[in-house]
Formats: sequence, structure tokens, C-alpha cells
Amino acid sequence: MKTPLTSITGFSEVLKEHLFQNEDDAAHFGSLIYKEAKRLLALIDDILHLGRIEARAVTEKEWEAVNLAELIKDVVTFLEPVLQDKKVAVRCTLEDVVLDADSGLMREMLINLVDNAVKYNLPGGHVYIGLVRREADAVLSVRDTGIGIPEEDQERVFERFYRVDTSRTRSGKISGTGLGLAIVKHIVHLHKGAIRLHSVEGRGT
Ligand SMILES: Nc1ncnc2c1ncn2[C@@H]1O[C@H](COP(=O)(O)OP(=O)(O)O)[C@@H](O)[C@H]1O
Ligand SMILES: [Mg+2]
Repeated sequence: MKTPLTSITGFSEVLKEHLFQNEDDAAHFGSLIYKEAKRLLALIDDILHLGRIEARAVTEKEWEAVNLAELIKDVVTFLEPVLQDKKVAVRCTLEDVVLDADSGLMREMLINLVDNAVKYNLPGGHVYIGLVRREADAVLSVRDTGIGIPEEDQERVFERFYRVDTSRTRSGKISGTGLGLAIVKHIVHLHKGAIRLHSVEGRGT
């Protein structure tokens, strides 16, 4: 939170003190302030949200029968603009699975996983979503042919705010708050599930 605020105060000071060369410069600083403010807003949103999920503990009363296959299709449609933008294709192999769950949280878990699979992918890459029933469990897999996660970071990506430091994230080309997988992990545990990560750097996750 400090980083965007530092930029916002710095750039607005430039504007306030008229420390810019011309109108174009001023507009540039304005757009930087706007971008950083949006980033801060997304971050605050995620933090508040994670807090609400944590506070919810186990309120199974609100659970309902959720058709996971349908929800996955919904989420893929919802992310269509991002898929086209990144030139990534999604292929789904889904068994009919209905489970007792909080549908809003299931949706959020799926959005975070698929969003990562697209965001950390490469143009022309693929995302494969699988859903099978195994005895009393539903097994969901989200696999991508993206940049992968270095072995030494794999354990830490579920921590809040942890983001793998790459030239891509440093240059701000791939933005994020580092809270998505922490939220996913919480949602999975709330539903008495387990989550597992397998990734090979440069090949996929
Ligand atoms: N499918 C993936 N492929 C490669 N890296 C990933 C993938 N999913 C997550 N990561 C890494 O884990 C970090 C944490 O993910 P997440 O909690 O969703 O935060 P965010 O996407 O906001 O950075 C990401 O910043 C990225 O470095
Ligand atoms: Mg994410």
C-alpha cells in the first residue's frame, strides 16, 4: 500500500507545485496518479475481502447445491475478454459435479485460478480445466502452458502479498496484489478441501 501512495503523493506534488514542463507532462503525471490510485483500490478491495472470508469461519448454513461444471463455464465466459487479449485458449473437460458449497466463493476461487493461468501465460498458450468426481470428492484441475513458478517460490505463492519477482512483474507488465492464491487457499479450506501445486519453470503450472 505504501508504494502506490508514495507515487501518488510524489506525482501530485509535482502537479501542485507546477514542477512540470508542459501540458503533456502534466497529463502524464495525472495518468500515473490515476493508475496508482486504481492499483491501491484493487489492493484494498482484496484485503477487505480476505478479511471477510477469514471472519466467516465455517457457515455451512449458507451452502447450497452448486453445479461446478456450469460455474466453470460461466467463469470462462466471464474471462473471455482477458483470454482474447492474451491470445490464450481454454479447453474444458468437465464431468457433471454438483457439490454443497458457497457458490459465490466457488466462483471467486475459479476466477482467481483461471485468471492466473491466463495472466502468467504466453501468447498462443493454453489453459486446461478438468473436473472429475472421485468417490465423495470433486477434483478440479487448472493447468496452463505459461511461464511456470520457480521451485524456490512454489511454497510461498499461497502467502499473502507474495509475488514471484520476475522481469515481467518488476516492469509492471503483469499487475496483481499477491492476494489471489491466499484467498483461494482459504476458500478451499473453508470447504474442507485440499490444494496442491505443481509447476515447472518455463513450461507451465
Ligand atoms: N499459473 C501461474 N503461473 C505462473 N505463476 C503463477 C501462477 N499463479 C500464480 N503465480 C505466481 O504466484 C503469485 C501469487 O499469485 P496470486 O496470489 O494470484 O497474486 P497475483 O496474481 O495478484 O500476483 C503471482 O504473482 C505469480 O508470481
Ligand atoms: Mg492472481
